[in-house]
Amino acid sequence: WIPPTLALVLGYLLGSIPFGVLLTQWAGAGDLRSIGSGNIGATNVLRTGRKGLAAATLLLDMGKGAAAVLIAEALWPGTGPVAAAAAFFGHCYPVWLRFEGGKGVATLMGIALALHWPVGLVYAVVWLGLLAAVRVSSVAGMAAAVSAPVAAAFFDRFDLVLLLLGLALVVLWKHRANIERLFAGTEPRIGRDKDAVT
Ligand code: G3P
Repeated sequence: WIPPTLALVLGYLLGSIPFGVLLTQWAGAGDLRSIGSGNIGATNVLRTGRKGLAAATLLLDMGKGAAAVLIAEALWPGTGPVAAAAAFFGHCYPVWLRFEGGKGVATLMGIALALHWPVGLVYAVVWLGLLAAVRVSSVAGMAAAVSAPVAAAFFDRFDLVLLLLGLALVVLWKHRANIERLFAGTEPRIGRDKDAVT
């Protein structure tokens, strides 16, 4: 039980680094949690008007998910899935932010790429495709998350289906305010409606 426990701790610690909050603060762009949707992810960093910061947040949030899986697998073979789940929950429920974390979309993309890259590729294509087509980040993110367990089944990685399904359900749960806004027709589009989320 020692290797899985170490993978769990490593995953959680990496996943709980709130890059969006830190980068925004360091850049003097304010407290991300009082901007836009209040979320700590790249989409909300974009609402500060700082595209570079948003891109960095996206890459770092993806990177920490991927790093957790890859480091855990390298140190303690077979513990990648444990580290993946821990990193994801670290991002969504970080102890440093009183467990009020992000919605998991970028971190899950990194995790998917590291667990089985074809699944991550499907995830990225669904996410980028929908982002380009509908320009609503939450819609693209939720669809990408749901595509992950489906893609895992398609690629015969049935060992990953349950894990990815569970994480996708958490992504949907985390988007419940976005879902309400979507039904109300008030969910903002990327690059527009900058101040629409309150
Ligand atoms: O990854 C988060 C995204 O799906 C939604 O972000 O700030 O619009 O709630 P936000």
